[in-house]
Parts: sequence; structure tokens; C-alpha cells
Amino acid sequence: MSGKSRLTINGKTIAAPNGLTLIEAGLQAGLVMPQDCCTGQCQTCRVDVLSGSVDAKGTAEGASVLACQACVTGDAEIHYDPVPAVMKTGGSVIAINDLGGEIVEVIIEVTKPVPYLPGQYVKVAFSGFPARDFSPTLTLNGLREINQLIFHIRRTADGLVSSALGGAIKAGHRVKVTGPYGHAFLRQGEGRIVLISTGTGFAPIWSIAVAARLGQPHRPLTLIASARDPRNLYMRESCDWLARHGVEDIVLTASGANPLPPARHGRASAYLPSFRATDTVYVAGTPGLVDLVRSAAQDVGAKCYSDPFLPSTSQPTIGMRIRRFLGGKPSKPSPVHAQIETLAASLAREKT
Ligand code: FES
Repeated sequence: MSGKSRLTINGKTIAAPNGLTLIEAGLQAGLVMPQDCCTGQCQTCRVDVLSGSVDAKGTAEGASVLACQACVTGDAEIHYDPVPAVMKTGGSVIAINDLGGEIVEVIIEVTKPVPYLPGQYVKVAFSGFPARDFSPTLTLNGLREINQLIFHIRRTADGLVSSALGGAIKAGHRVKVTGPYGHAFLRQGEGRIVLISTGTGFAPIWSIAVAARLGQPHRPLTLIASARDPRNLYMRESCDWLARHGVEDIVLTASGANPLPPARHGRASAYLPSFRATDTVYVAGTPGLVDLVRSAAQDVGAKCYSDPFLPSTSQPTIGMRIRRFLGGKPSKPSPVHAQIETLAASLAREKT
């Protein structure tokens, strides 16, 4: 398959070599599309195919495909919702608060505010530790200072970063933040909003829930928040906030043991509502639940957005991916590659 096709990306038409991924075709024309993992896992690059066709490479969900996997095969028009440009900033930890069970709330004060949409995530590198993806959220009673980022993190004994919270990582620890990323952010719309989380997947879901109640109060809202260990149902205060703001359909559930009422026993999957075509579903948590919910939503034609939790491995940067795409060695960028990295960075800045 050779030759070029006309690819229109958010209204701008470029000549795109057939066989390139949509992201690669965009980069060749100086368009940096939203992306993160570029391995088909994070969903950040999901785009709608408005007309024409592409080779979805198995990533199609309705009319959408992953732009890091789908390839140009003919003329096509694609669209994605604009998102804040990826930026970098520094900051420091100002508080680590126990929320119950294994969950802590980590509050970071950043040098520059990080614009993000409710539901997106950022990469956080505590000084001396590898970067991890976390979703910025709000305090459990729905508040946030503009120069702060709040995260919910489950402390595990073998977690390189999480086990250090409160020990090697404490108030004053320096932090670097990059982002935002992610496709599972709140959209304007009509119809019911269904929010589903497991564990600290509640962080993006809580951010979406508050924004939805304050910005789109006419939309019915259903929340299902779950944990395996009932002590990790740390979101009871948030459920009270939602109830005070008119949300009646709230289920808290733990599968490991009987939780304190009104929380119930069982997995989130046992309490899923009957989805309707007019629903918009947001799900965050374990891949098993995310897959189940996406499939059930897809069956009835409901929109479903998710940012599945990824394993904590090093992921290639935009620069590394551009160099890989051009066939260069990641460790030694050529001057051309450096120029392209600069282009990618400046294009991203322009979109702020
Ligand atoms: S799935 Fe395409 S950038 Fe992550």
C-alpha cells in the first residue's frame, strides 16, 4: 500500500502517506495530536472518524479508533476534543493525609497551575523516584486550590513510590509534574451520567462527579464506587456531598468482606445499571471492570470513556517516539530529531 491520502484532522487537511499511523501522519505535517503511551493502552489518542475510513488495527469502538495504532489507508476526516496542552512544572508535597485503609491523599503545591479537564491524569515524579500516573482530584468535600494537585494513592508494601509515602516522601519533598493526558474527561452533553470506579479509580470519577453536578446539574447521575477491602471505601464523605447535591443513585460496595452500611457487599459488576443508549459512562479502575463496562455500554450504543490503570513501567516520551518513528536511536537524537522535539513542544505550548 503506497501513495498518499487526504487526511483531515480537526479541520486541517494534510497529505498523509498510506500506512502511517494517524499520529505519525499528523507529526509529519507538524500536528501533534493528544498521545501518551503510543502502545494502544492509555486511550489518550482516541479520535472519531467522521468520514472516509482508516485501518483501525482492532481498536475501533463505534466510530472511534486509537490514533497511535490506526493507519492511513485512504481519504478520511478525523476529530478529537481539544484538550489542554501537555506542560511541565515543579512543586513540592505539602500534605499526606490518611483517608482510611490503605488510601492516602497527597497534596502537591505546584509552581505553575496545571490546566486539566476533570478525569484526565498527569505524570508525577517524586524526586529520586520513577514517575507514576495519577489523576488530580478534589478533597473529599469537593474543594481544591488552583495551585494544588490532590491525588488519592493506595499504599502497598511493594509499591516503590506508594510505600515511601509518609517515609522517604513527606512534606517538602520535591516533585515534577507533566501532563495532562487522557481521554476519559467530562464532556458536555445530555442524558444520564454513569460513574463507576474501583479503588483509587475514584479519584478521576470524583473530579468528574463534582464538575458534572456543578456544571450540568440537569443531568441525572449514577455512581458506583467499589473496593475489595471495605476499609478502602474512603469516599463516604464524597457520597454525602453528592447526596446533598441531589444525587440519589449511589452504590458503595466492597467485595472482600461485609462493609459498614449503607455500603453493600459484592463487586461493582454486580451493581451495574441497565445501560441506555443515551447514557454517558465513565469508568476507572481495574482492566477487568473497565473492559466489562465498555463492552456493556457499547452493546446498547452508550458513550463510554475510560482510562484503564496501566502497569508502572517506563514509557517512551514524545521525543523518543518521534525518533523511533524516524528510525533513529533513542539515546542519541540527531539535530533533526532535536528540531522535531522542539516543534512538538512549541506546538503543544501554542495550544495552551
Ligand atoms: S493508546 Fe494511543 S497514545 Fe496511548
